[in-house]
Amino acid sequence: MKLSNWIAAGAALICAAAFAAPLAGHAQAAPDGEALFNTRCKACHDPAIGRAPNRSALAVLPPGQIVEIATTGPMAPMAVGLTQPEKQAIAAYLTARPVAAPAAGPDAHAAPPPARGAPQPPVNVGVDVKCAAAAPPIRETAADWPSVGVDASSRRFQRNPGLTRADIGKLKVKWAFAMTGGGMPTVVGDWLFTTNRSGKFYALDARTGCVRWLVEGVAARTTPMIVKTAISPSGWATFVGERNRTVHAFDAQTGQELWASPQLEANPVGTITGTPIVSGHQLFVPMSSGEEGAATQPTYACCSFRGSLSALDLATGKVQWKTYVVTEPLRPTRKNAAGTQLQGPAGGAIWSAPTVDPKRGLVYAATGDSFTEIDTKGADAIVAMDMATGQVRWSHQVTPNDNFIIGCNAPVRGLNCPTTLGPDYDFGASPILFRLPSGKDVLLSGQKSGAAYGMDPDTGRLIWTTKVGSGSALGGIEWGMAADDRRLYVAVSDIINIFDEIVAKQGKPPFEGESSGPARPGLSALDPATGKVLWRTPAPNAPCHYAGDRSRDYTAGICVNAQSAAPSAIPGVIFSGATDGWFRAYDAASGKIIWQHSTTAQTYDTVNQVKGQPGGGIDGLGPAVAGGMVYVMSGFNGASRTGGNGVNVLLAYSVDGR
Ligand code: HEC
Repeated sequence: MKLSNWIAAGAALICAAAFAAPLAGHAQAAPDGEALFNTRCKACHDPAIGRAPNRSALAVLPPGQIVEIATTGPMAPMAVGLTQPEKQAIAAYLTARPVAAPAAGPDAHAAPPPARGAPQPPVNVGVDVKCAAAAPPIRETAADWPSVGVDASSRRFQRNPGLTRADIGKLKVKWAFAMTGGGMPTVVGDWLFTTNRSGKFYALDARTGCVRWLVEGVAARTTPMIVKTAISPSGWATFVGERNRTVHAFDAQTGQELWASPQLEANPVGTITGTPIVSGHQLFVPMSSGEEGAATQPTYACCSFRGSLSALDLATGKVQWKTYVVTEPLRPTRKNAAGTQLQGPAGGAIWSAPTVDPKRGLVYAATGDSFTEIDTKGADAIVAMDMATGQVRWSHQVTPNDNFIIGCNAPVRGLNCPTTLGPDYDFGASPILFRLPSGKDVLLSGQKSGAAYGMDPDTGRLIWTTKVGSGSALGGIEWGMAADDRRLYVAVSDIINIFDEIVAKQGKPPFEGESSGPARPGLSALDPATGKVLWRTPAPNAPCHYAGDRSRDYTAGICVNAQSAAPSAIPGVIFSGATDGWFRAYDAASGKIIWQHSTTAQTYDTVNQVKGQPGGGIDGLGPAVAGGMVYVMSGFNGASRTGGNGVNVLLAYSVDGR
């Protein structure tokens, strides 16, 4: 992820803020949250630079979460020297909501996470109207979308969606639901589940959007996988990976918590972004990180985070094994110009859900870049681990020396930047296990470089590579791919390249130094056996109307048509959304666009009583198609901060809106 040169002024401020002494003499008086924010946080967050969320995006977070992020999370290095009351004052200032005093003393290092079920201050995105009738039991159907990838192979393909190709042209919005920063929903029967950034974990009536249950204070944006299992009283359970590196299991019918795992990673910059995946009696949890951001601080001993996969006992949350993908020993490297001792190697964050292969007894994970100049074989790799033991069966690195942290392409380079800088070509998408007509399997993956790969799942041997996009730090292939029985469908973002082309027309220098090539956003279909491109449909340039989009400041109001979100497949049709808010259906055989809807062309009166809520960009894990309906988040605030509104609308489409 790159911090770009439009933030040069901000970068200079970062250094000033980094060396500022903690405010003295405030022991007695109540800390001044605004003054503290201005000296310690503003340089990066107001106006926001690079990947950092802006002030209004921070304002919707539960205040306790901001304190936690600044205490035991990725912002801890930015808040060194601040007391708990000072961090609470910053959170209260940002959110205009008070923070409950911690049980421990004012200088306690770790604020305890809020107890589950403790009342949380309301977030002003509507009224959670409970369904009048008692919720019917969860009943599975053949038309469900129960996990991010639908099945263990992560294909994002629903074979019986309850919609025919002829229905697609008649899709209309049936209901909309407002929430802050929503994740991808999952659907079983007429139950829909989704987490979001404001800490609310919802179970909704999939037909109407009314709230069946709501658990507050769940700091998770992972897609909740829904499984039929005897471990929960109702026979249905769901699992979320939280920001603080724990997993929580809930009864999917009642929202009652079943268990909480121990913290799966001690390094405070670690976090869970990929969906924990169930297979048999095991739950596989990928570990990601915010160290690329923390490392922008010159006082931070960059870098020590190592991506890992853990296997938990489904019934108890107990850890069975944990395997790090970076295995080379951690060692001191050099001192930076501020005198901080640096270390490495580090990296290999696992952003996406793992893919399970019970036939081979393997679980596959796709890893991100390296954070230091000491390269690691575990970065930008596909790794296959034994399901029973966690032992690495094979690991295949596709891009060596991809050493990267935020803030290294700006004219004022951060002091912790690796001496040899890589292009930031993480894997962000889950691998897909695909059965060829010959009966042979191929493991498909897609990288931010814009390359898709086919590998032998037994050995990791590379069978083919096809470049479908030019590639950038935000994709290339960013969040996902889908595969039906015949083809692999790959969405291309190339968003940095799009930005570069926009500013070039204005005679301004590119954001990212050397551009990796022309922007080629769109959707492609590949032959899974050979990688041959079967068709390619470029992302149309079409009008968009969203408000509150930060990228408009530097794109002069031009709509950014990156296809960063993961696509989703049903027989004959592929759904794919773009950061300009357009949501489209493509003919699977030809790539022809057969239906489209601008989610930003109107506002929505939502089920939870927000009137006139705008849509926004579509990014992240993309749509779910289930029970004759199509669900997509409009307004997702992705890493590019393009098309985001802070508040999302979850849109539910049905035939003729009925
Ligand atoms: C040197 C720049 C910098 C400074 C100073 C800084 N931040 Fe951040 N902050 C970032 C970046 C970059 C991210 C995004 C990290 C990511 O997405 O991995 C971020 C993310 C966050 C997030 C969201 C984290 C999440 O997981 O969603 C919060 C909350 C936050 N910062 C709070 C603060 C507070 C409070 C301060 C002041 C004490 C602060 N930040 C100071 C750069 C900074």
